[in-house]
Amino acid sequence: MEKIKIALLGLGTVGSGVHAILEEKQNLLQQRFHNKNDREVSIKIAKILIRDPAKYHNVDPSLLTTDYQEILDDDSIRVVVEAIGGEKPAVDYMIRAMERKKHVVSANKLAIAKFGEPLVKASKKNNMEFLYEAAVAGTIPILRTIKDSLVANEITKMSGIINGTTNFILSKMTHEQSSYKDALVKAQELGFAEADPGSDVNGDDALYKIAILSRLAFGTWMDLNTIDCKGITEVTPKQIEDAQKRGKVIKFLARSEKVDGKIIASVSPEEIDRNHPLAHVDGAMNAVYLHCDNAGELLFQGAGAGSRPTASAVVSDLFAVVERL
Ligand SMILES: NC(=O)c1ccc[n+]([C@@H]2O[C@H](COP(=O)([O-])OP(=O)(O)OC[C@H]3O[C@@H](n4cnc5c(N)ncnc54)[C@H](OP(=O)(O)O)[C@@H]3O)[C@@H](O)[C@H]2O)c1
Repeated sequence: MEKIKIALLGLGTVGSGVHAILEEKQNLLQQRFHNKNDREVSIKIAKILIRDPAKYHNVDPSLLTTDYQEILDDDSIRVVVEAIGGEKPAVDYMIRAMERKKHVVSANKLAIAKFGEPLVKASKKNNMEFLYEAAVAGTIPILRTIKDSLVANEITKMSGIINGTTNFILSKMTHEQSSYKDALVKAQELGFAEADPGSDVNGDDALYKIAILSRLAFGTWMDLNTIDCKGITEVTPKQIEDAQKRGKVIKFLARSEKVDGKIIASVSPEEIDRNHPLAHVDGAMNAVYLHCDNAGELLFQGAGAGSRPTASAVVSDLFAVVERL
């Protein structure tokens, strides 16, 4: 049995899901790896980077470290899974990992939307994989679908509900006549919104994701300042009710299309017809709707966040990286 050692950066919502899946599904993953590649391989977490070891009781304490250099210096670690989030130190950690010949898997949409160019450059320069399926629409395998399964298509435009928190809030306002404030509190109680929901409700989170989708669909990294962005904080129950009377629903949509060679993207609450394919995507669900020249219209739906759904996408990237080792 070939043992592939990996390091996990962060053991929060996503990191702990990755840790749990790798423990629980070890046999299944080994079997699937064998069936696909005719090799006996097991993926082992060799180190986990966190800041405060006292917080983590359910993991082997010998795996925990607060010193990233220890991971970089360990040449037996082949892959780094970044689940810290944010810009600093995550971007620097990922680039340094690739410079030390470690492949990188990440769920960090902010880092990828803002620093995708240097990250991809580091991956090419060092001939390392850099995969980030979990960064957009959680468990929905949309990036790999665009990259691989739709390779024979021009994507003419795309739209999506790619932030679960805001979809939950608008769904609650639409179907239960909640106020924005009550719906937000409920989302926080149920774990669909952070204590600080800023980047969800002001649109930044969806903006990062539509920038990443646009890069894959249209081939260029976007200047984030060119994306029109309006959050949901000003949507009122009256606007929702008035829209309903006209056979419409208000959804928080991210859109992108190429017009005369230029990518036009936006994130904002919009009225759509109640028969639109995205109109019935409710609660914390995400969906991505693609228009392709050959494949036609495609709709993908699934959990956009959460520990296991997100970790499922991370582990599939990890599996893909290990297949190439
Ligand atoms: N949560 C989701 O459903 C979801 C879905 C899709 C994508 N993502 C993305 O996944 C990433 C992780 O999100 P999360 O929700 O798992 O975050 P989280 O629950 O806040 O966990 C972050 C983890 O990283 C550790 N950490 C943070 N800064 C660190 C540093 N400087 N050095 C070492 N460890 C550090 C934290 O350790 P301490 O607790 O010890 O500080 C914690 O274990 C983010 O990029 C997020 O956008 C999340």
